[in-house]
Amino acid sequence: MRDVVRFIRRGAMTEVGDIAPTDMVLDYLREREGAKGTKESCREGDCGACTVVVRRRRQDRLVYEPINACITMLGQIDGADLITVDDLADDDGDLHPIQRAFVDHHASQCGFCTPGFVMALFALYHTSAPPVARERINDQIAGNLCRCTGYRPIVDAAMTALANPRADRFGENARETAEMLAFLNDGEDLMVGDQRRFFAAPATIDGLAALVEEHPDAVILAGGTDVALWVNKQRRTFDKIIHVGRAAGFDAIEDSGLEWSLGAGARLADVEATLGAVDPDLRELLRRFGSRQVRASGTIGGNVANGSPIGDLPPALIALGATVHLRKGSAERSVPIDDFFIDYGKQDREAGEIVTAVSVPKLGTAHRFRCFKVSKRFDQDISSVMGAFRFTVSDQGTVDEARLAYGGMAATPRRAKAAEAALTGAQLQDSTRWTEAFNALREDFEPISDHRASARYRIETAHALLGKALIELAGADSQRTRVVGQRPPTDARERL
Ligand SMILES: Cc1cc2nc3c(=O)[nH]c(=O)nc-3n(C[C@H](O)[C@H](O)[C@H](O)COP(=O)(O)OP(=O)(O)OC[C@H]3O[C@@H](n4cnc5c(N)ncnc54)[C@H](O)[C@@H]3O)c2cc1C
Ligand code: FES
Ligand code: FES
Repeated sequence: MRDVVRFIRRGAMTEVGDIAPTDMVLDYLREREGAKGTKESCREGDCGACTVVVRRRRQDRLVYEPINACITMLGQIDGADLITVDDLADDDGDLHPIQRAFVDHHASQCGFCTPGFVMALFALYHTSAPPVARERINDQIAGNLCRCTGYRPIVDAAMTALANPRADRFGENARETAEMLAFLNDGEDLMVGDQRRFFAAPATIDGLAALVEEHPDAVILAGGTDVALWVNKQRRTFDKIIHVGRAAGFDAIEDSGLEWSLGAGARLADVEATLGAVDPDLRELLRRFGSRQVRASGTIGGNVANGSPIGDLPPALIALGATVHLRKGSAERSVPIDDFFIDYGKQDREAGEIVTAVSVPKLGTAHRFRCFKVSKRFDQDISSVMGAFRFTVSDQGTVDEARLAYGGMAATPRRAKAAEAALTGAQLQDSTRWTEAFNALREDFEPISDHRASARYRIETAHALLGKALIELAGADSQRTRVVGQRPPTDARERL
């Protein structure tokens, strides 16, 4: 058992033991190291001013991941190489190519946002080979806000730096860093503190399940993109944190032929490729999930266990017929995801129990799937309404089953059973039955008004999303039905 957090800073191994369980990386940098290049602004993961990069070994590759230091607890970077904007320039003061391009393109005015943009783009510098499309850059910085310069010069600077990347010292010391990271991955349980107050990160799934059962009052921490906000915004204090991120295999993604098994610790960045391959709408949904920084930390397990009525993945997983797998000590059980969400803030999970995985059936040839996220802002915003639909259609064009799931319409993400009944047994193109289903949505849901959307907006949007799905499945090209997120031309499988 190790009692210090260990990570790499500027090529040297760093050990920190005297931390409170919820100390954030940002505070460590600014207050303990005095590395003040990393800025604090929103402190809720929204603006990207605090972006830093962690280098890790994943599947024997060295990866560069941008994260928000303000919502990352120090224990979460155990075993990583932490790189900040203060580390980019050479020892003789020469700027990194990304920084130089910012200067050359006048991409900075007040400069407050600049370190965050530079770090998000530094991660891309080491991830993508040229040519890098403008859209890819826009996506990389979707989690970074600039209030003065405007994005054109920032994107121009990125285009220039990424068009001709040259070797930097991070590339040069990659082999040495990979060796150090392998050494840091010691397979030891981490427990900083004592039995009453600690940050713990077991190294195995068995150890994790046992520790959570032993401390049912502990907060389970995955990516922390929800939990850290309870600390920063709600000013809650937690004595016991159990982090799932070091448990070997907890993030495993497996293909069993008929379904995907997604380990609860799989980050959204990891599931993007898997679920994205299921359907283009799921790919778009994941691309719009928070930002690169949020997806580099946030997990599928956190999104499900959190049980938010406006979480993005639950409606899609409900429509797909997913199953949630749980474990308490050594006892395991599984529940259909529809039954997992009981009421607002109440899920079918006992104290001391963890979500271990979510299994997602693949789409068969009879399935037609659509999902849509509606939010006030296109990027980096939580849904106002989210609709996900899976229809099972016979060769004769009859709807044998409809699974219609919504977020933002009730206290939990849930199915629209009355609307499903209205469509079941109908010909998919029978618009009379569509109208019945639209009307039935008013039986299914009585949404509330809040700062994101009024009740009326929600119900009308729910109707419109179902309508859009049905119109597309009846043959309309998504070039006509969508302003953004158009699907590739309808494949033959979908034609009736
Ligand atoms: C800037 C920003 C943007 C965001 N945008 C979106 C968005 O577009 N769409 C969206 O849906 N959400 C969004 N979120 C919310 C959040 O990112 C997601 O809910 C994310 O999936 C949470 O995962 P996590 O691993 O960070 O969870 P954590 O914060 O670590 O945990 C969340 C909850 O789940 C519990 N938990 C975590 N793992 C387990 C487990 N294995 N077993 C049992 N309990 C567990 C925790 O105890 C906690 O109650 C955003 C958040 C931020 C800060
Ligand atoms: S300070 Fe805004 S994302 Fe961290
Ligand atoms: S340069 Fe001022 S916020 Fe971006």
